[in-house]
Amino acid sequence: MPIRKKQELDTPVLLMDLDAMDYNLATMAQFSREHKVRVRPHFKNHCILPLATRQVDAGAIGITVARVRHAEALVGQGVQSILIANEIVDEPRIKRLLDLSHQAEIIVAVDNPQVIDDMGRWARNEKSPLNVVVDVDLGLGRCGASAQEALSLAQAALGAGLRVRGLMGYEGHLQKLLDTEESRRVRSVAAKTLVETRQLLEKNRIPVDIVTTGGTGSYKTLAGFAGITELQVGSYLLMETIYVPFVPDFRLGLTVLATVISKKDGDHLVVDAGVKALSGERGLSSIKDMGGLRLSTLHAEHGIVQITDPNTAPKVGDKLEFWVAYADATVHLHREMYGIRDGIVEEVFKIEY
Ligand SMILES: Cc1ncc(COP(=O)(O)O)c(C=O)c1O
Repeated sequence: MPIRKKQELDTPVLLMDLDAMDYNLATMAQFSREHKVRVRPHFKNHCILPLATRQVDAGAIGITVARVRHAEALVGQGVQSILIANEIVDEPRIKRLLDLSHQAEIIVAVDNPQVIDDMGRWARNEKSPLNVVVDVDLGLGRCGASAQEALSLAQAALGAGLRVRGLMGYEGHLQKLLDTEESRRVRSVAAKTLVETRQLLEKNRIPVDIVTTGGTGSYKTLAGFAGITELQVGSYLLMETIYVPFVPDFRLGLTVLATVISKKDGDHLVVDAGVKALSGERGLSSIKDMGGLRLSTLHAEHGIVQITDPNTAPKVGDKLEFWVAYADATVHLHREMYGIRDGIVEEVFKIEY
């Protein structure tokens, strides 16, 4: 690959500081070893196949995904165990998962008796076993059955001929909390719900070998919890500014490089990165290594930056680097992520859609 400086890239462009990424990868891997807790990173954070492989090489037991096509792509790369931490409810995609089960361990979340029934029938028709975990709503109010329903769903799944492996519960509403006694308490209550549900299944002679939960905000609290078997951490690898106040353990590294394309009246300038390059969904980006500027508005292809200190303001043609506020949604806007070390492009990663 010819040597390219990041400043020479066509903007807007997604960059990742590789030193920060290596640090984050190694930090989670070391935590997992030291605390004897398994991690199964969520693919949606980066959607990059070689990074999933690096996570597995660093000790992850497999990968978590939300989409069937991501499961297929990862198995194609040799990942041996995939959790689909999402409800897949239609026959064509369940058939694809059944096909995939011949090449790798595939585990899918369930929360609905009708779907369980259908899945059992489709699996029997294909003469293929299917692993499921019962998804329990821990208060997020998204997918997942109530803890009280989990036993009957597990029994229904067994009755339908599915392989019940255990439980999943994602407490997404408890991720971005400061590390206080209260946040540790509420996270422990959620974890306890899963562990007690596990015990209920076991009392009813349903063996449980997977209890999967957690994220980048809660990984530390959950690691010490007997009965939880694995953590579905996602954001730790690339990180994002909205996580920083809550999880100082990982380094920020994900940015979008943009060019200043217009500047008027000295009070604002315009860059060529708008909502098609930077998600503003959960907050606006701050600007790396440059004071006196504040991103105020995102149009489709333009970002409006207020100049608070005219003495330091860049000029038209200069480049500005924006810290990514919300990684999952920003990565999804790009086809490639450029891995940067010491200002030079070292790797180019294709982003799966
Ligand atoms: C089901 C599920 N598991 C795990 C995660 C990972 O969480 P985080 O990115 O906070 O580590 C998410 C994030 O949205 C999720 O939806």
